[in-house]
Amino acid sequence: NDVLRKNLKIVRGYPITYAFASGLEKIEQFQSRRDDIVIATYPKSGTTWISEILDMVLNDGDVEKCKRDFITAKVPMLEMILPGVRTSGIEQLEKNPSPRLVKTHLPIDLIPKSFWENNCKMIYLARNAKDVAVSYYHFDLMNNLQPLPGSWEEYLEKFITGNVAFGSWFNHVKSWWKKKEEHPILFLHYEDMKENPKQEIKKTARFLEKNLSDEMLDKIIHHTSFEMMKDNPLVNYTHLPSMLMDPSKSSFMRKGIAGDWKNYFTVAQNEKFDAIYKKEMSGTELQFRMEI
Ligand code: PPS
Repeated sequence: NDVLRKNLKIVRGYPITYAFASGLEKIEQFQSRRDDIVIATYPKSGTTWISEILDMVLNDGDVEKCKRDFITAKVPMLEMILPGVRTSGIEQLEKNPSPRLVKTHLPIDLIPKSFWENNCKMIYLARNAKDVAVSYYHFDLMNNLQPLPGSWEEYLEKFITGNVAFGSWFNHVKSWWKKKEEHPILFLHYEDMKENPKQEIKKTARFLEKNLSDEMLDKIIHHTSFEMMKDNPLVNYTHLPSMLMDPSKSSFMRKGIAGDWKNYFTVAQNEKFDAIYKKEMSGTELQFRMEI
């Protein structure tokens, strides 16, 4: 299965999964609709979770409606092009009715202009860097489109220097955080969602000007819990061929917790990471909780 694995391609300074890189020029011309809702994340930050939550919010907590299709069709990834899969993210988006949910991991610089011009609402979900690194390491083990991660030690080096698909976590979170000064962006944290899903879902519904009853909220919380999503074949990515995502290496719905990094970082790795973190994050108000 490693035949699919190729090196990342640099696009306007950002390392990108090679399969997606070829389509990025077309994406620059992408025409948004005014009521598009963009879900932007650095990879492995809880994108699938917030995607299913948003679909539930837009459908007033109706579970049956949310079972209409796979998450990859309901919330297409803008930059997605897969070998052997006929429908690209853009083609799927063109088919979807408004209001569309659009998933992307792109850094600000590569987001199509049309989204800014149309003032589309955006939801950015961020997760603490250490848990993202651990989750991304396991994802790169199973995702045959990505370069092999190597050992955890080697992977952590690549993560710190931003030599992973979609580039540096630091740049990604900092630039999206800054962008919310001039654009309607709701900035959420994975750790807050774990700790108090009701509060964060309410915040999200308010941002989308949706009124939800307590009963609807409870349904959404239940349907989008890690335990439910892990066993839901429409959202747990087991529908993709194992040639693309190999479940024998790791699972997409792996642990779904905050603080798993403690099981991977050695004391030395943690000290080094903390020092770099402090430097990279100085001068931003953006803060993360490393556990809850
Ligand atoms: S991707 O490939 O970038 O779109 O992946 P993404 O969905 O952003 O991230 C996958 C991680 O999110 C966890 N996850 C959840 N956590 C809590 N609750 C729910 N419902 C949930 N759904 C997905 C998933 O388990 C991955 O994290 P790890 O730490 O690897 O378990």
